[in-house]
Amino acid sequence: MDNSWEWFIKRFETLSKIDLTAYKRPQMERRINSFMRSAGVQQYKDFIILLTNDANLYRKFLEHITINVSEFFRNANHWQVLEKQVIPELIKERRGIRVWSAGCSTGEEPYSLAMMIKEKKVPVIERILATDIDQEVLDKAVKGVYSSKGVQGVPPSYLTRYFKRSGDSYQISEEIRTMVNFQRQDMLKDVFGRDFDLILCRNVVIYFTEETKNRLYMKFAKALRSKGVLFIGSTEQIFQARELGLKSIATFFYQKD
Ligand SMILES: C[S@@+](CC[C@H](N)C(=O)[O-])C[C@H]1O[C@@H](n2cnc3c(N)ncnc32)[C@H](O)[C@@H]1O
Repeated sequence: MDNSWEWFIKRFETLSKIDLTAYKRPQMERRINSFMRSAGVQQYKDFIILLTNDANLYRKFLEHITINVSEFFRNANHWQVLEKQVIPELIKERRGIRVWSAGCSTGEEPYSLAMMIKEKKVPVIERILATDIDQEVLDKAVKGVYSSKGVQGVPPSYLTRYFKRSGDSYQISEEIRTMVNFQRQDMLKDVFGRDFDLILCRNVVIYFTEETKNRLYMKFAKALRSKGVLFIGSTEQIFQARELGLKSIATFFYQKD
């Protein structure tokens, strides 16, 4: 039986539908090898058998490779730009806006948006779409329960208004939860919706190869309506923005022509 990296990613795709060739290989290989070591296996073929037979380990492995760390209002100064500059501009000529958080992990990002939208009375056409490839994080997001450390980035007034505390955990209120529509989606394979006014895709593409990144930014540009805005992560930049019909309107914000 073949035991190469290429063999492994093919078998893994059959098992999970996740295409690891789109992710940066050295990083991915390192993460996978360290996981295999901690699971006590050395060969890819043994690892595939283990993943196939042990649902618990399989779930842990998915969590490990999709790297789903998130925070409320991650990079607070960029959220200030969103609130004070980008959103007011977007709603100037619109009855309401359509918003999508792509790669939403455990929900901190779409819930941050929902709280801001509620607080600033931003008109929205429909619920905020929040998608991720990992069903496990989506299940957590729907529950909306976070530790006290997890809610550190939430402004105190929002914490009082939009969370219910129970011991060391905080649950996001029903009114905020119902503003978000969580759906499983693989952004590399699935078809995107259209006419979004605001798309957030932050801290996801860092794991992808340059080619995958470019393909993805093209898909996001197409999914935006004219004048719609793409908000990206604080270590990211879109080099071919002009070719995609995007222009930078603030650091980490790109607007479609
Ligand atoms: C580091 S988290 C970013 C969470 C949030 N956007 C933020 O900035 O705090 C990256 C998320 O991207 C998701 N992800 C990775 N590959 C994906 C794919 N192909 N399609 C959709 N989501 C993906 C992971 O499951 C993970 O939850």
